[in-house]
Amino acid sequence: MTVAVVTGGASGIGLATANRLRAEGMDVAVLDLAGEGVIACDVTDPAGVQTAIDSALDRFGRIDVLVNNAGITGSPAATVLHETPIEEWDRVHAVNVRGPFLCSRAVLPSMIEQGSGHIITIASVAGLVAFPGRAAYTASKGAAVMLTKSIAVDYAKYGVRANAVCPGMVYTPMTSWRLDQPELRALIERQIPLGRVAQPEEIADAVALLASGRLSYLTGHPLVVDGGMSAL
Ligand SMILES: NC(=O)c1ccc[n+]([C@@H]2O[C@H](COP(=O)([O-])OP(=O)(O)OC[C@H]3O[C@@H](n4cnc5c(N)ncnc54)[C@H](O)[C@@H]3O)[C@@H](O)[C@H]2O)c1
Repeated sequence: MTVAVVTGGASGIGLATANRLRAEGMDVAVLDLAGEGVIACDVTDPAGVQTAIDSALDRFGRIDVLVNNAGITGSPAATVLHETPIEEWDRVHAVNVRGPFLCSRAVLPSMIEQGSGHIITIASVAGLVAFPGRAAYTASKGAAVMLTKSIAVDYAKYGVRANAVCPGMVYTPMTSWRLDQPELRALIERQIPLGRVAQPEEIADAVALLASGRLSYLTGHPLVVDGGMSAL
């Protein structure tokens, strides 16, 4: 049985991913700050992450796939660089970069021991092209893409692969406050060649394809799933 750990799996893309991986027959442990059926864990806290990963290993015996999905955009105050409060910069990087670092660090020893594993990090198109007025988020997602490449390079010899998924705009609790405003949504959707934002299940599809092991020669790759947004 393939075992997956999904961080931030109580909402949005993480929830859709956990459901999809279960539907594919995998055992799935969900880590999140809180929520029914989740292993409570703040991905920025080293001791909490270690305890959560140990508890998933105790329960399932192995971890084949880690999905680093937990992420935040930062408050509306985190805009262009010189106006971004320092604590907001740190908070965004703590969840979006330190989180994947700590979770990957905690699962890698068992993946090395078993000689296989796949670390999939939900980055963003913002990690490849700059989102205007979102300096902290853009920088953090760029770091998440490079963390993925670094893992791919350093751990290939142990049979461990690492890939990123880079969504464009997805309708989740992270974005619904904007997308529920019809004029704003229309403005956003005009910038997407497919003419609509994604549903979280469409990002879960991409994660499930990576997690299936079918793309077995793919590692260090940022898989863009953005309706053509970054092709413009
Ligand atoms: N929604 C989009 O348009 C979009 C686009 C590109 C990338 N992403 C990325 O996808 C991922 C999921 O986003 P979403 O839209 O589903 O957001 P969401 O807000 O619906 O879900 C995020 C989940 O992460 C959890 N989380 C936040 N901080 C945490 C922490 N410190 N420890 C543990 N869990 C924590 C939250 O509790 C929540 O359940 C994020 O990394 C986000 O940056 C989202």
